[in-house]
Amino acid sequence: MDIPFSRWHLVIEKRRSRRHFDPNLPIAPETLAALDKVCNQFGPFPHARSRLVTESAESVFKGVIGSYGKIKDAPAFIAFIGDMDDPFVQEEVGYMGEGIILEATALGLNTCWVGGFFRPEIVASLIEVSNKERVLAITPVGHARESESWEERLMTGFGRSHNRLRLSRLVRGLPRERWPDWVNICLEAARFAPSAANRQPWSFDVQEDGITVLVRTRGPEFNVSKRLDCGIAMLHLEVAAADCGRRGQWEFLPSPRVAKFKIYSQSVLLALTLCGK
Ligand SMILES: Cc1cc2nc3c(=O)[nH]c(=O)nc-3n(C[C@H](O)[C@H](O)[C@H](O)COP(=O)(O)O)c2cc1C
Repeated sequence: MDIPFSRWHLVIEKRRSRRHFDPNLPIAPETLAALDKVCNQFGPFPHARSRLVTESAESVFKGVIGSYGKIKDAPAFIAFIGDMDDPFVQEEVGYMGEGIILEATALGLNTCWVGGFFRPEIVASLIEVSNKERVLAITPVGHARESESWEERLMTGFGRSHNRLRLSRLVRGLPRERWPDWVNICLEAARFAPSAANRQPWSFDVQEDGITVLVRTRGPEFNVSKRLDCGIAMLHLEVAAADCGRRGQWEFLPSPRVAKFKIYSQSVLLALTLCGK
């Protein structure tokens, strides 16, 4: 599936995690069909896949403490599944999952990445998961209640969880005055990526021929890999680059680096255009 870059770039700033859904507002059948289609078709990596599930959604979520922090009244959820034999499975699942989350946002739906507080055994009873695979995260999907409940506002620290670190704290490499315009747009999009507990474990190294994403290795993982967060930021970065007319390719790298987005040279771009890609 070709990534609808402009459509996804447009909703990066609009997306926010929502945890309480409106039980009186089901997802329209045509919207559900469109979401199912993107889950089936957006598979940029062979070892990462997703499944939309429309039954028993309520039973898979659990609260942070008791039922506090629980996702409520979701009519459906999407499972993000990875083959654990792949050394880059975390970033691949993050990248793929965020594409699906941005498409759900563009379809007018609400979502929330959930890495820790769900019951994998219930998910596994609803979908087929092989011995090599693990459900790394899920997201509820549906229409959120119009206004945030008190509990939801508490969960987001009264909106603070949407704050992000400034770029000046996250970037190294080429000095800012030498960045082409598209670099700033890409880094802003990457900076806006969601991460578990809003920990933003990434930094960026700007080079002449591309941008490398790095992961902060200090600090606990809390059962959710920081490399999965970095995969989400990678998708944002590439979507923004493509929307600025810059195409490229990811090269996965060992820790603490995650991957480098290498911009295609003019000759590669010309060859791709001639092949109709
Ligand atoms: C990989 C991942 C796992 C997450 N796990 C949870 C979770 O278990 N429970 C939850 O309520 N929110 C979870 N979140 C949502 C984050 O708390 C949220 O994305 C972050 O605070 C930024 O807020 P925003 O998404 O509204 O921009 C997770 C996010 C990511 C990216």
